[in-house]
Amino acid sequence: MSRAWTAEAFYTQLEEPPTLAEYTQQARDFVARHVAEKRKVVLVTQSGGTTVPLEKNMVRFLDNFSAGTRGAASAEYFLEAGYAVIFMSRQHSQFPFTRWYSHTTNPLFDLLEEPAEGEETVQVSQAHVQGLLPILHAYHEAKRRGRLLTVPFVTVIEYLFLLRNMSEVMDPLGRHAMQYLAAAVSDFFVPADKLSEHKIQSDDQALTLQLEPVPKVLGSLVASWAPNAFVVSFKLETDEKLLIPKAERSLHKYGHQLVIGNLLQRRKFEVVLVEPHDHTWVRLPSTSAAPPHEIERDIVAAIAERHESWIASV
Ligand code: PMT
Repeated sequence: MSRAWTAEAFYTQLEEPPTLAEYTQQARDFVARHVAEKRKVVLVTQSGGTTVPLEKNMVRFLDNFSAGTRGAASAEYFLEAGYAVIFMSRQHSQFPFTRWYSHTTNPLFDLLEEPAEGEETVQVSQAHVQGLLPILHAYHEAKRRGRLLTVPFVTVIEYLFLLRNMSEVMDPLGRHAMQYLAAAVSDFFVPADKLSEHKIQSDDQALTLQLEPVPKVLGSLVASWAPNAFVVSFKLETDEKLLIPKAERSLHKYGHQLVIGNLLQRRKFEVVLVEPHDHTWVRLPSTSAAPPHEIERDIVAAIAERHESWIASV
């Protein structure tokens, strides 16, 4: 029998990840520093799927398409806009700054010159220096100034526990806190008491899985965990007709500030910002040629402006 999990049951009946307390303390210290410096802090939950293990000793799992580009790119632009960033990072997916040299598109080793026999220094080839320098500077500046805190997760359970605790520790920021919920969260999971201890044996048998629904936590986040924050959720659809109505429904149901709607096929070129009485398209000039810049730059500029006006409105 499948259970209908409420958010409350989920958090009381499931076991907390062992690393939760440590990451929560790190975030608390990070937030305290930025509260003292009156800086805005954004929690970016990385787009990057949340894994659903099928075994306790996990060999197999369910996941989704997301590589985490939206979250990693947005984190960079928030840093550039003066925010401090708590980056909830799905392990092994795209990461701010290093993503520019990720393995398949732009391999790190292609950047480096092979030293001559007997030499022990490695250099970046001249052709790549111009492209690398601003990224390297931005990365080191974020580190030096303590502006980027990374909290890693893999499974949907780790993600949901972290999301609750990160949201709660940001409360002292008041309106200076923003939640930017770009993660592609699994809708179904297998609770621990139904998980096979060891690798599921194939034995030429069909495998039947019973997945239980992951509770929606946006309502708890908006009402209880982060009632003073500027909350931006995302809505991904593949059917254009559903995009704005579903984003509006979410906004109406949870009462937060903004939903960013995107279609799977066009997500890198256009998104729609859906607000209570309005919606605004953000589009790059062309979907065919190489775009002039990443759409996340325009998304973050538009969101940061709205956050600022919202802070000023009280
Ligand atoms: O990685 P990329 O290729 O760059 O892709 C980026 C993206 C398309 C994944 C990203 O832009 C995006 O749209 N992410 C949200 C995907 C989505 O629609 O999620 P959802 O419909 O399952 O959830 C909608 C909102 O509810 C989300 O903001 C989520 O935080 C929230 N939610 C989801 C599940 C859950 N159990 N509780 C929630 O509150």
